[in-house]
Amino acid sequence: MASKSSPLLLPLLILFLSALLTARADPDITSDFIVPPGAQLNSSLFTLAGLNQTLSGGPKNTSLEITKVSQLELPVLAGQSVSLAILQFAPNGTNPLHTHPRSAELLLLLQGTLSVGFVDSGNRAYTQVLYEGDVFLFPKGLVHFQTNLSPELPAVAVSAFGSSNAGLVSLPKALFGSGVGEGVLANSFKTDATVIETLVSANMG
Ligand SMILES: *[C@@H]1O[C@H](CO)[C@@H](O)[C@H](O)[C@H]1NC(C)=O
Ligand SMILES: *[C@@H]1O[C@H](CO)[C@@H](O)[C@H](O)[C@H]1NC(C)=O
Ligand SMILES: *[C@@H]1O[C@H](CO)[C@@H](O)[C@H](O)[C@H]1NC(C)=O
Ligand SMILES: *[C@@H]1O[C@H](CO)[C@@H](O)[C@H](O)[C@H]1NC(C)=O
Repeated sequence: MASKSSPLLLPLLILFLSALLTARADPDITSDFIVPPGAQLNSSLFTLAGLNQTLSGGPKNTSLEITKVSQLELPVLAGQSVSLAILQFAPNGTNPLHTHPRSAELLLLLQGTLSVGFVDSGNRAYTQVLYEGDVFLFPKGLVHFQTNLSPELPAVAVSAFGSSNAGLVSLPKALFGSGVGEGVLANSFKTDATVIETLVSANMG
């Protein structure tokens, strides 16, 4: 019986399984929005004020200042499949190699000049120099970076995400700051313990 099943069944099954494997979007909610427990339902719930201070302040003394607006900062975003981040780069500032496991990132450069890029699952790198007003897409889940090309001027970008909690996996920290055994790391990177110890001590804490 099973072996005589519809010839459509196998393609449909493959389609279903591949949809399951690639579907990593936020789950749909069955109400207009979710009111956080204890919160008052009025327009303040949908508002996050004060980012003008972030935007006018510029990057602090760090190489990169990230201000997130995710469901942690604005709880009503839960279930809305959207969030954003403001990225303020100091001169020479870099956002190190990282991925967002639950979302693509669409970056708009508001000020400055950035070198950006990502690597696809075939290990091909796509890099670009962005100028004020340019938009760049970092596809969902892929490893990417941004770096300020100016040695003197800051750069400011805004990124949109298709998840209320896109997540961030920083490669330097995940690889060398997480406590993965140094033997595993030395074998993985085809190098010796001295090199790994240098990388671990630079990325711990
Ligand atoms: C909404 O409710 C909160 C909590 O009671 C209050 O602080 C806030 O001012 C209210 N906002 C508006 C727009 O009425
Ligand atoms: C930000 O905007 C608020 C009004 O929403 C204003 O009171 C405040 O002075 C502004 N701050 C800066 C640094 O522009
Ligand atoms: C940034 O560095 C300058 C000079 O080193 C210092 O005067 C200032 O207090 C620092 N600002 C912050 C926010 O740490
Ligand atoms: C940025 O890097 C260049 C080249 O390494 C260096 O000359 C410059 O002083 C750096 N600028 C800052 C603000 O660190």
